[in-house]
Amino acid sequence: MKIVKTVAEVRAQVKEWRDEGLSVGLVPTMGYLHEGHGSLVTASAKENNRTVVSVFVNPTQFAPNEDLANYPRDLEKDSAYCEELGADLIFAPEVEEMYHDGNVTFINMTTLTEELCGLSRPIHFKGVCTVVGKLFNIVRPDRAYFGKKDAQQLAIIKRMNEDLNFDVEVIGCPIVREEDGLAKSSRNVYLTPEERKAAVVLSRSVRLGEAMVNNGETDAEKVLAAMRAEIETEPLAEIDYLKAVDGLTMQQVKELKAPALIAMAVRFGKARLLDNFFIEE
Ligand code: PAJ
Repeated sequence: MKIVKTVAEVRAQVKEWRDEGLSVGLVPTMGYLHEGHGSLVTASAKENNRTVVSVFVNPTQFAPNEDLANYPRDLEKDSAYCEELGADLIFAPEVEEMYHDGNVTFINMTTLTEELCGLSRPIHFKGVCTVVGKLFNIVRPDRAYFGKKDAQQLAIIKRMNEDLNFDVEVIGCPIVREEDGLAKSSRNVYLTPEERKAAVVLSRSVRLGEAMVNNGETDAEKVLAAMRAEIETEPLAEIDYLKAVDGLTMQQVKELKAPALIAMAVRFGKARLLDNFFIEE
């Protein structure tokens, strides 16, 4: 496995693979990898001849008051983990390599980006779309892998891929959880031991909501009310949002039928955690 820092090196390597007729999968990450990221690398390694993992803490998706400077990093450990899982190339550029000469071009999507996380993080998805669009152009993968934990991000990238004709197969992978149910996240390191215990309430509320839907409940308000009551049993939890939306457009829905999504963002001290479930056919 190779680790490279420049766009030119990625292009040269991918061209070699292409000339040999090999398929290429891409797993975009911000590093500090855990088994959630690992599941994407494993899926890509299984479905493609070669896998590229990008490790880049993308400054354009962080607002000035967010955790860019403190975002956890460990490239050495990430590289060893990716190699173990069957990745072939790590692309770990410096900020200047991705955004030189004061980048002035961005991918600015409307509607889907203005809901849910977009309300409290108004510039976030512009940065995500821009960097993922750049990575799609740099690597030109056959397939790219994203986690359903970031359900809105996944929907936005699928839509960007269609709208801008990137011709990548965008694949959504299931949420990987800790043993007690908490969705794995690089940001879980921000939790104090007390907050870490309290955060289990998110997956408990997801299980509760899922059980109601599986038992035939289709009234979004009823399911949301039960989930909200569950989260509110935990005094350390501060709900940013808890909503039922159309899983493709991110617009609110009243009736829970496929492809709906129930998604939440909840703060525990410094950490803002996500959880969700999709209602599928
Ligand atoms: P990051 O938070 O590092 O996540 C990289 C990928 O891992 C995303 O697709 C995310 O949904 C997935 N992931 C994280 N935790 C997961 C879990 N518990 N189960 C399954 N998948 C999980 O998301 C980003 O980085 C960035 O916004 C990025 C797309 C790389 C653009 O900068």
